[in-house]
Amino acid sequence: MISIIFVTLTILVIVLVYIYLKQCYVPRRDDLPGVQPHIFFGNLLNSGILKQESTFNQVLIDYQRRFGDKFQYWFGSHRCLVFCRVEHAQAIFSDRHTFEQSPLFLPNFDLFCPNGIAMLTGAKWKRHIRVLLPMLKRAKIVGHLAMITQCTDRFIDRYLHAGQIHRNLYAACQSLTMNVIGLIGFDCDFDTHVDSPIKKAFLDFIFHSTLLMMTPWTPRWLGKIYLRFNRKYQRAYQLVHKLAEKLVKQEQNKQSEIEDERPKTLIASLVSSLNEEANDENISSGLNHVEIFDEVVMMILAGYDTTSTTLAWFIFFASKNPRVQQRMKDELREHNLMMTDDPNYLPSLTPNNLASLTYCEYVTKEVLRLAPTASFTTRIATRDTILDDVKINRGQTIFIALHNINTDARYWHHADPKEFVPERYLAEDQNHHPLAMITFGGGHRACIGQELAWFELKAAIVRLMQRGITFEDTPENTGGYEELITCFPKSLAVRVRFEKS
Ligand code: HEM
Repeated sequence: MISIIFVTLTILVIVLVYIYLKQCYVPRRDDLPGVQPHIFFGNLLNSGILKQESTFNQVLIDYQRRFGDKFQYWFGSHRCLVFCRVEHAQAIFSDRHTFEQSPLFLPNFDLFCPNGIAMLTGAKWKRHIRVLLPMLKRAKIVGHLAMITQCTDRFIDRYLHAGQIHRNLYAACQSLTMNVIGLIGFDCDFDTHVDSPIKKAFLDFIFHSTLLMMTPWTPRWLGKIYLRFNRKYQRAYQLVHKLAEKLVKQEQNKQSEIEDERPKTLIASLVSSLNEEANDENISSGLNHVEIFDEVVMMILAGYDTTSTTLAWFIFFASKNPRVQQRMKDELREHNLMMTDDPNYLPSLTPNNLASLTYCEYVTKEVLRLAPTASFTTRIATRDTILDDVKINRGQTIFIALHNINTDARYWHHADPKEFVPERYLAEDQNHHPLAMITFGGGHRACIGQELAWFELKAAIVRLMQRGITFEDTPENTGGYEELITCFPKSLAVRVRFEKS
């Protein structure tokens, strides 16, 4: 008797779950177009993401071609509405009361870094942004130019060898940008190289977060158990937290010696905000020490991974465009900034002469526009609304297809927007729509590190050219895409040549 009841109940549960899942997944008649989702994997499987046959930038471009400027994409069990027009982005970014950062921005990332600013909303987010943002403003960053050139010189001297084909420059770029964020943000020379344990620890962090990101249907408790018993992850976690502890301790010692100094770095701002009674009723009450640890980890990760990816894309685009490299060097020569015959003398870069290099600025801008570093960003609707005739219910996740907009021929006129042409900013595209380039997202949740990223990338690119480096194309240098948290070139293989003055 008991077994009959058990079997009946089991069948009933299975049928109910089946009906529920079918209800969730089968698109309603008024739905946006899209590809029929898989019952468990949504569109992650049939769009090739899970099998690593495609990356998000490729899928979103393909779906826009097939379905138009608004469509649906199933991120596992989450139905997301994707918007691809500048006007959509404008409407979403300008309405902070309706659209907030979605948990799908970095799904499951709160298992690693629950108090990192990207995970937060509301009053807690405001408390954190008050501490972090002022330290990432251009006025604070320009004073660190010498550090960026020093890190770039180290990158050149360690990794760039004349005549050789370099196949591992992406890893070298990661070391460069990790050193930059170490010096600028934390007043500490991480001196990471390609195989540094701390760099490997961050890579393990990224690997596991991508793994969990791609399985957004995983119950949180299962994710927690997986991380708890994963030795590689645990080792990475210990190392990263030891580093965070060391950075906080160092800064606390410094602050106990010099009192009343206004914070100049991220770590100084974080440590001086320390308040164990921090609360969300008072947004200027600072951060408690658990929050500070998480922000240290978040800032290192966000600060190095995105910029190294973009720098790797610069090397790729430059190698395909020798004319662009030549023109940058010509501009440096015109400003007497190119290296001279004396190997011990290199003209100094200053914030002023860097700012005067307009062609180099356009190159940096073109890399930031065309590199699919972050293909999309996300928002969640905090109330019911309508956008371009699409009814959006409270709780609905939205994707804004950043890379689609950055490369949309309706907003870019000078040359094919899928081509790398810095000259476009001297011509018809000089006055492009401000949101036609939305590499850093927008609105109140726009990237807080964008001024640092711009400055750092331009300074590094200029230094490479100033030192007479040319990246040459090779048959193996086929590009393509590979994606973890960011999307980087799959096959980057360039030969390096050093120019004589
Ligand atoms: C080329 C380099 C970079 C790219 C392409 C990039 C891109 C982005 C994008 C697309 C977003 C989401 C914006 C939105 O939803 O509207 C974002 C957010 C964020 N970025 Fe960046 N980023 C870069 C560099 C940096 C750097 C250097 C830092 C820190 C030092 C940083 C820290 C952050 C943080 C903390 C957020 C979350 C902000 C929030 O949720 O309020 N990023 N970034």
